[in-house]
Amino acid sequence: MTASETRSLFAVASRPEVVSLAGGMPNISGLPLDVVGSLTSELVAKRGMTALQYGSGQGDPRLREQICEVMRPTGINAHPDDVTVTVGSQQALDLLTRIFIDPGDVILAEAPSYVVALGTFRSYQADIVHVEMDDQGLIPDRLREAIAAVRAAGKSTKYLYTIPSYHNPAGVTQPPERRAAVLEICREADVLIVEDDPYGLLGFDGEVPRAIRADDAEQVVYVGSFSKTFAPGFRVGWALAPHAVREKLVLASENSILCPPSFSQLAVSDYLAGHDWMAQVKDFREMYRERRDAMLEALDDLMPAGAHWTRPSGGFYVWLTLPEGIDAKAMLPRAVTNRVAYVPGTAFFADGFGSRSMRLSYCYPTPERIREGVRRLAQVIEQEMELRATFGAWSAAQRPGLDAPAPDQS
Ligand SMILES: Cc1ncc(COP(=O)(O)O)c(C=O)c1O
Repeated sequence: MTASETRSLFAVASRPEVVSLAGGMPNISGLPLDVVGSLTSELVAKRGMTALQYGSGQGDPRLREQICEVMRPTGINAHPDDVTVTVGSQQALDLLTRIFIDPGDVILAEAPSYVVALGTFRSYQADIVHVEMDDQGLIPDRLREAIAAVRAAGKSTKYLYTIPSYHNPAGVTQPPERRAAVLEICREADVLIVEDDPYGLLGFDGEVPRAIRADDAEQVVYVGSFSKTFAPGFRVGWALAPHAVREKLVLASENSILCPPSFSQLAVSDYLAGHDWMAQVKDFREMYRERRDAMLEALDDLMPAGAHWTRPSGGFYVWLTLPEGIDAKAMLPRAVTNRVAYVPGTAFFADGFGSRSMRLSYCYPTPERIREGVRRLAQVIEQEMELRATFGAWSAAQRPGLDAPAPDQS
């Protein structure tokens, strides 16, 4: 396990004068805290003996039924027996890696991919092989090639880790035809898919993309979370897995934590049962859409020529690729001095690529702060471009796909 190289900078980045476009903290300012407060105090007063006690290793049965309802908009028709409640979806990713991975086994992951999942995979000594994506997500042909290359190298691909909807960090969404192709390729090669879907309900046009798991209950483990649709502080997520995997998940979870916290599970369960949670999700969507609009508008207005970026239709993130010759990690200290922060692209790759890119998140700051942050960022990039013009270009091998030079969008 290693700490991120940019971790120390984030202490500085959290100062109030810095506009942080770095963190991915859900913006829970719209949550009805009075409702949550009264449901939690009622929970303790009326069912404290259960809520404050150990519970089942697989998770509370009523919550598992409700999770099946929560997944329904994604097209998934599941049985509560196949759901394992976890401490956030992060624990589900950890348990799945523990179950499947021996040191040196291959996990395929999009290029770029979710930074903390990569950390988990590394901590079990997985060999992470990135698969190219474009603005429509993972590219099926590249997946086929990657599986063949791993096989030719005499290694075993344990699973594909993918975030098809409102990707973190790339901000792109895979269309249905590609999802079908990915599923078909994985079926043929007998590669399990771990579908991570914390943002699926947060699409700005209100449409929920059909999950890959909706079309195959055996080849896919689906991982979900209440962190973005309710509150991350409860730390409740889940995995929906084929029977044999589910049994191992429960065992691994019991060995690790005994059981997920009863209090959090019952609080989430009461919230789902007694509150119009879908209306709350709709409010979240509208709030995030307003922030996405602010970011795209600011990027369109202010970014210098040569930079390009994705245009997310849901979720929290934009993936920005800098004009040629500029290194996002080397630029970060200067950006923080100019009171704006982002996460350099290299954090999202296991293989050192991504140096020309960065993740910008729009979930937390107000629209005005987002515009100000983009203004400061554009200024820093322009200064870098001037330096480059004076002292010559920094250069690095670029991965094809999202990071490749694209037509000028500014
Ligand atoms: C893609 C993805 N997966 C998993 C998680 C973990 O979420 P949690 O453990 O809060 O459910 C996150 C959090 O940001 C995420 O972006």
